[in-house]
Amino acid sequence: MKTDLLKGKTVVVTAGGTQEAIDPVRFIGNKSSGKMGYAIAEQAALAGARTILVSAPTHLEVPYGVEFVPVQSACDMQKQVEAVYEECDAVIMAAAVADFRVAEAAERKIKKMEHMSLELVKNPDILKGLGEKKTHQKLIGFAAETNDVIEYGRAKVRNKNLDMLVANDVSKENAGFNVDTNEVTFIYPGEQITNLPLMSKQDVAKRIIAAVAEL
Ligand code: C5P
Repeated sequence: MKTDLLKGKTVVVTAGGTQEAIDPVRFIGNKSSGKMGYAIAEQAALAGARTILVSAPTHLEVPYGVEFVPVQSACDMQKQVEAVYEECDAVIMAAAVADFRVAEAAERKIKKMEHMSLELVKNPDILKGLGEKKTHQKLIGFAAETNDVIEYGRAKVRNKNLDMLVANDVSKENAGFNVDTNEVTFIYPGEQITNLPLMSKQDVAKRIIAAVAEL
């Protein structure tokens, strides 16, 4: 359903799991499907926002009315998000960003060998970087945890200077990676939290967009 909740606003949504190259044909990836981020981008566009979807590779269709910026690695994603940061009103970081990348990706396909080790280096924390130079933007992060969800979530809100965190317990059935439903808690700076029941990712996306509009 179309609304005017975010009319005149520019919203950046990141989605998918970043891919960190090992060589021209291999990468390190993760289990994110991108479903949550794509559902949020769709709802942001329906709410009237200019919506920029910065997405790592997924199998999903780009939602109607969304500007699409495809990326692969965490460093690519950081570059593209930072390029539009100044002009945007909110960044919703639903992407599963790899924490590490291969120190030096090989230029040619690596041949088979008996033993093989890869040196990994830390990726930039995109969201933390945005939090450090925040001016007018609202920053929304995601957190997937298996325990102590609220406690870790509150720490993340503080450390990354967020306006809202969408936390989920991925040890619960039907929540998190690669399923069509999610059960999340919104955590705000200060003490306030909002627990949502299990619902479709589309409905979670609608609630997130309504909460972002409130911010
Ligand atoms: O610290 P943690 O990885 O749990 O934080 C998750 C949040 O931070 C997500 O919103 C994710 O998109 C973002 N993130 C990031 N850059 C990283 C790792 C996570 O922006 N390198």
